[in-house]
Amino acid sequence: MAEEAVLGFLEKNEEITDSGQFADERGLSHDEIVNVIKSLNGFRLVDAQDIKKEKWVLTEEGATYAATGSPEFQLFLAIPEEGISREELQRKLDASVFKIGFQQGIKNKWIEMGKSQLVSRKVQKVDDKVKDLLLQIQGGKAINREDADALKRRKLIAPQTWKGYSVKKGPKYAPKRKKAVTDLTRDNLLRGDWKDLEFKEYNFLAKGLPPEGGHLHPLLKARMYLLGTSSFPLNAPCTKANPDDFSSNGKLRRFEEMPTNNYVESSFWNFDALFQPQQHPARDSHDTFFLQEPSTTKLLPEDYVERVKQIHESGGYDSRGYGYVWKREEANKNLLRTHTTAVSSRMLYLLAQHSPPGPALRDEDAITNLDPQPFAPKRYYSIDRVFRNEAVDRTHLAEFHQIEGLICDRGLSLGDLQGVLHDFFSRLGMSKLRFKPAYNPYTEPSMEIFGYHEGFKKWVEIGNSGMFRPEMLRPMGLPEDVQVIAWGLSLERPTMILYGIDNIRDLFGHKVNLDLIKSNPTCRLGLQ
Ligand code: PHE
Repeated sequence: MAEEAVLGFLEKNEEITDSGQFADERGLSHDEIVNVIKSLNGFRLVDAQDIKKEKWVLTEEGATYAATGSPEFQLFLAIPEEGISREELQRKLDASVFKIGFQQGIKNKWIEMGKSQLVSRKVQKVDDKVKDLLLQIQGGKAINREDADALKRRKLIAPQTWKGYSVKKGPKYAPKRKKAVTDLTRDNLLRGDWKDLEFKEYNFLAKGLPPEGGHLHPLLKARMYLLGTSSFPLNAPCTKANPDDFSSNGKLRRFEEMPTNNYVESSFWNFDALFQPQQHPARDSHDTFFLQEPSTTKLLPEDYVERVKQIHESGGYDSRGYGYVWKREEANKNLLRTHTTAVSSRMLYLLAQHSPPGPALRDEDAITNLDPQPFAPKRYYSIDRVFRNEAVDRTHLAEFHQIEGLICDRGLSLGDLQGVLHDFFSRLGMSKLRFKPAYNPYTEPSMEIFGYHEGFKKWVEIGNSGMFRPEMLRPMGLPEDVQVIAWGLSLERPTMILYGIDNIRDLFGHKVNLDLIKSNPTCRLGLQ
């Protein structure tokens, strides 16, 4: 509509001298006309020149007087023939109307203050010139300089720069704009209309879309660092330390990764095999997610199950057991594993059977005896997800990741565990450690691990550890003199400290800011 008006007018006329006037005459909005002119000018269909005009607009106060009359006029009308006391006049009018009206009335010599303290009219009749002028400005008419200055001084009008255009035909003028085509289609070719089409020119300066690539999540970076680029925990000084352990080129060469690719676990491997009694509060649905479908496991190694039942109910191997009636149904219940120690228990069981595990843990593996070999020491680790029925807050989520390590060998002691932990954590930047006695159903002794955080200047809890109990290891069939030292910690904790994230929901889950994932730096635990 506006575009046709502009191009159509220029077909028969030399020039649009004033876009504002042009818009007014056609009842079009000036903004719309300006947009069209700018666009046509860009494509050089028209040549547009800026015009700027200073014009007056009413202030809010000015607009009020344009509607209701100036204060001095209102005040004049409120004075009766015989005069009126100042107080009474004040009562009849708005405070500001009275104040301004009184001043202006005196100045205009419209009113006077008599000796009798009465306000009276000094002239018979007055004209509201201020209102008339304001109405003229409102109607877009010009007023003379002197009047404009007076109104401006009273802050009833303000100057405004008005911008418009004068427009002539441009070098590419056409009475109707052809829309430039962006694609040559099969239909254009069949119809042959491509000959008449105007194609949009390539813009070689346009920026392309930023190339999108995948980005590693900070947790994956921390995991990668732990797995690959550090010498963790290869250098773990074990009593049977081998010079190879201390090679500096990293990689978990001496630690085998445990197959943790099963989030669903049976209560048996998650709890019972770990000598965790069936009444233990962690086995409550308030703490653990149980599966509805399939709700129970189908395969367990029966003779081992029998030995586990025995150790819980009446003990053995110098233990008194717990002395309660162990229920198979409890052990069968499927759950989302609450710790990766569930996988450690499967692995140690397999180790005791001298049957090396396949790439994934399958229940079948646990009940077939493959290729008997003599006991061989092992170092295992895993980094994977666990689940707990937690109330979510800034430090807890219902799912998180655990780093777990264990060493299984003859003659290991608590001193070995402490040595390994010192080595492990110093590689993560924590070389000052303290141990606090703790309790786990499956370890004795158990130690909570605290590390001194140089940045926070305080001791922070960083992990849990212990020596697996004979009640756990012996029913599996491990030789009597074999000990297992083990430790576990969350992957989130060191990652949050490293990346300066103080709310776990900013690190993991649906509230994570993707820009953070795209821009965070490489992980160098312990090296910052
Ligand atoms: N399973 C323990 C936890 O979830 C960690 C741990 C692993 C403790 C191994 C001792 C030995 O907190």
